[in-house]
Amino acid sequence: MSTSEGHLIFDGCDTVELAREYGTPLYVVSEATIRARIAEIKSAFLEKRPGSRAAFASKAFQTLDMCRIAASEGLYLDVVSGGEIHAALRAGFDPARMYFHGNAKTERELHMALELGVGRVVVDNLDELRALNGIALGIGKRQPILFRITPGVDSHTHQYIDTGRIDSKFGIPLDPSVRGEYIGAALGMGGVELKGFHFHVGSQLLENDSHLKAVAIAIGFIAEVKRDFGFEATELNLGGGFGVRYTEADRPKGLAYYTDAMCDAVDALCREKCLAVPSLAIEPGRWIVGEAGITLYGVASVKEIPGIRSYVAVDGGMTDNPRPALYGAKYEAVLANKQGLPAAGKYTIAGKCCETGDIIARDIALPAPEPGDILAVFATGAYNYTMASNYNRTPRPALVMTNAGKRRLSVRRESYDDLIAREI
Ligand code: LLP
Repeated sequence: MSTSEGHLIFDGCDTVELAREYGTPLYVVSEATIRARIAEIKSAFLEKRPGSRAAFASKAFQTLDMCRIAASEGLYLDVVSGGEIHAALRAGFDPARMYFHGNAKTERELHMALELGVGRVVVDNLDELRALNGIALGIGKRQPILFRITPGVDSHTHQYIDTGRIDSKFGIPLDPSVRGEYIGAALGMGGVELKGFHFHVGSQLLENDSHLKAVAIAIGFIAEVKRDFGFEATELNLGGGFGVRYTEADRPKGLAYYTDAMCDAVDALCREKCLAVPSLAIEPGRWIVGEAGITLYGVASVKEIPGIRSYVAVDGGMTDNPRPALYGAKYEAVLANKQGLPAAGKYTIAGKCCETGDIIARDIALPAPEPGDILAVFATGAYNYTMASNYNRTPRPALVMTNAGKRRLSVRRESYDDLIAREI
């Protein structure tokens, strides 16, 4: 949608005005879209399956405002560090509703989680299990845990975000020669209470086959653990990873495409193996926030290399969105102040960092760009704000939240003094 002056409208707000008011680069995140996604989680999953849970994966987009939105909607929270726990607490998020993940949790973080009463620690390895048990016994607590398992599923996504394969740094291996050690140890410890299992097969998955393979492996594993140890899991966390639309090549389906199929598979497999059906949880991050965000940049310069390429250089780049440089991620972009004008050619959007690979999008069609134009990049709501850096002493952008035509500053822009605030 655009205004009569050809300005891009996002969640009822004129993006050119937002850029003028708050400066660029600017993250703009729609609370309305986030709440609509959460409404779909409720109708597609939570309401269909009483006793189930949905946790928002903080790593995708954690701000105090986002924690408050998640809390107000009754979501649980996936946290993966002391920093994420601290921020969520500051936002008033109930620690009992947190799942604490991570493959290298420190003693300090485990202490913090136990003292605060974090609801579930998702244990990744034996050393963590022993440390957790020791701390829990020391303070007289029994910590409910899930084991993260590595289902050994090859999910067809970028190898850096494919987390479920057998050769993975995440989770306990399901190899029969070692798995007994983990289960036996946990069941014999007074400081932990094993509730069940968790898997996460990968991220930005547009098909459900990896999730379904992992469900079959997890339920098979639960049955074997019941047979060998007499322990029957009461909880199974199915992770996140549901894909979103970045470019027109991506064809995401609704959440029910994944959750209906997984729920049906869990029910059928439990029936077949005579297991009580565990309560299910999902942990989406990107699916809730990815399409809820855009980034606005100011065009700094336009450079044509005759017969080769035209570059449009903008005032941000890999510091606010490292995903193209890290994963070869693709994005779509438009000139927010020139909506409705015909394309003048194909342009490559270059970031401002001293890195050849700092390219936000390649060869996209735009109306003739000029310095001072506003470029809007779509679907930057996930893994942008949380993965931003200060490379080249670049202050991180401000973040504005919109809601059906209303807007508010949610995170202020970093200042140059912020950049040196910790230096002595
Ligand atoms: N649960 C666990 C245990 C996870 O490790 C992750 C993501 C999620 C849930 C949420 O996944 P999602 O629903 O957002 O796909 N930085 C990468 C993505 C890394 C994902 C890591 N784990 C990117 O920008 O694509």
